[in-house]
Amino acid sequence: MKRQYYDNIPSPCFVQEENKLISNLEILKYVRENAQVQILVALKGYAFWHSFPLIKKYLDGASASSLFEAKLIYEEMGVKAHTYCPAYLKDDFEEIANISKHLTFNSLSQWEQFKNSVKSSVSCGLRINPEYSEIDVPIYNPAVQGSRLGMVKAMIPDILPEGIEGLLFHVMCEQDSYVLERVLQKVKEKFHKQLIQVNWLNMGGGHWITDKNYDVNHLINLLNKFHLEYPHLQLILEPGEAIGLGTGFLLSTVQDIVENNGIKTAILDVSFSAHMPDTLEMPYKPNVRDASTDAANSQFKYRLGGISCLAGDYMSEYGFEAPLQIGDQIIFEDMIHYTMVKTTLFNGVKHPSIGVLNKEGEFELLREIPYEYYKYRLS
Ligand SMILES: Cc1ncc(COP(=O)(O)O)c(C=O)c1O
Repeated sequence: MKRQYYDNIPSPCFVQEENKLISNLEILKYVRENAQVQILVALKGYAFWHSFPLIKKYLDGASASSLFEAKLIYEEMGVKAHTYCPAYLKDDFEEIANISKHLTFNSLSQWEQFKNSVKSSVSCGLRINPEYSEIDVPIYNPAVQGSRLGMVKAMIPDILPEGIEGLLFHVMCEQDSYVLERVLQKVKEKFHKQLIQVNWLNMGGGHWITDKNYDVNHLINLLNKFHLEYPHLQLILEPGEAIGLGTGFLLSTVQDIVENNGIKTAILDVSFSAHMPDTLEMPYKPNVRDASTDAANSQFKYRLGGISCLAGDYMSEYGFEAPLQIGDQIIFEDMIHYTMVKTTLFNGVKHPSIGVLNKEGEFELLREIPYEYYKYRLS
């Protein structure tokens, strides 16, 4: 039995399924409309810019964390970004300020450095750190002790500097509104004095709003309750992952099958290190279509091996219903958010093409990544 799902899609290829994106956007729109909250897409988590015109119909814009992200938002969504950088660079600042409508500063010293270069049309804010987070993985936790991200209560004056109009916090990752409720409680306890002086509060990302278990109505009630307490505040959420969650896959193909001491590895034309770095960084085991991530009870077990030379570029065994063969397609699910954004050209391995299965289910090839792109990044 040959595993062949698509005969018109080149391998490897990141493929967005437009209908799934629309389903996510409908959920986010429902929240926006019922909770008086602005929702932005955070480019660090989702930058599939072919879909920006569609996203613009549903959301309130986008958030950037660098000049390049702000430029992509301006060029492809046609709006000015809500921008936050851990540190703005002197050489970039004027350009970034020209294409941003909100600028959030990570420290008072950054604010002091740049406050005189900001035009009055830009609304400025400070990032606060409530020193509370329920994220277990330290590398993803901006509230760890000694974090460089945001100002803790002891660092922020009771009376905010003139010109500061907003606050931003970001301390969540793939979490629900019950976590947000506890975070908001801490934010109120620590920053009430500042909250009453500003006119917007950006609650960052990490809101897994489009996950099937997310209690959307609890979020709406929570935000509406918060709004009653602080009616002067424009509330903002800037999820990245929730936009692209479950909206597409990475198609790959088995190139060879090797066996060493009873361990069979199917070597693919993709790399975990270069094309799915989160799988090794977090780490997590991605779902593969029609395969079990738990191979314990499977007759046909295979490691999936990357095409780079890194020894650890593989995923431990998956269970399949039948033996794998060279030429079989292996589909990694849910690869359109952080995965795509974080790819590299490590080892010079071919970068996956990029395409979309449109609303009608027809495949459109959007981009192939040529050798020149690899060469250009080196010298
Ligand atoms: C400041 C800020 N906003 C938004 C996000 C997006 O988070 P997520 O993609 O988890 O929703 C991040 C992620 O790191 C962030 O640092």
